[in-house]
Amino acid sequence: MLPTPDLSHLKRQDYEHIYEPAEDTFLFLDAFEDEALFLKELQPKISLEIGSGSGCVTAFVAKILGESNCLKFCTDINPRATRATKRTAKHNQVSVEIIETHLISGLLPRLQGQFDLIYFNPPYVLTPSEEVGSNSVEAAWAGGIDGREVIDELLPYIKCLLSSIGVFYMVVINENKPDEIRNIMRQDGFDSSIVKTRLAGREKLFILKFVRATL
Ligand SMILES: C[S@@+](CC[C@H](N)C(=O)[O-])C[C@H]1O[C@@H](n2cnc3c(N)ncnc32)[C@H](O)[C@@H]1O
Repeated sequence: MLPTPDLSHLKRQDYEHIYEPAEDTFLFLDAFEDEALFLKELQPKISLEIGSGSGCVTAFVAKILGESNCLKFCTDINPRATRATKRTAKHNQVSVEIIETHLISGLLPRLQGQFDLIYFNPPYVLTPSEEVGSNSVEAAWAGGIDGREVIDELLPYIKCLLSSIGVFYMVVINENKPDEIRNIMRQDGFDSSIVKTRLAGREKLFILKFVRATL
């Protein structure tokens, strides 16, 4: 069992401004642990976490990939989160390129088709649309209608970003309508599966995995 990354450098005051790792984060870690062999065999050359928050997931995935030559990118819209990710990477001796940006802005067209691994624990909570789009801690959860507004903005870009062998993982809850998301991605040429699911309080969490459909 791989240890959870060391986040002892992040204090209560930090979590007033960035997402504190919670059930969804830990389910994501568990899913990546289950996928470790697959990921090692995939040997990703370039990876991307969208919305890295504390940096916990990226540090964990980096440990799975070990000493491989994977260039790891993270983005977050919240400047405090990008700083926290940087500190977490340093604290856990992993190297990551961190970009403060909206979703994947600035990565296309230069990195089109280059990512072998993309993962996102998005803001998925159902909220009024007006709450979506901040760059503070609310960005961690505010997902708008059906909790899908940020998710739906990203989905069309996945086919442009992923390489031919690329894989995309995403956290969702039942209210996000996972089957509908899987259908949208199917139309973009992706097969999908549920790699992990867990009931956390009233939330039913899923980890979805997407790979390009084989002809
Ligand atoms: C649920 S938190 C997940 C944080 C961390 N990855 C984890 O699993 O603990 C969602 C993260 O996405 C970021 N985020 C929200 N909207 C974003 C956007 N449009 N572009 C980039 N990051 C965004 C938030 O700032 C937050 O850090």
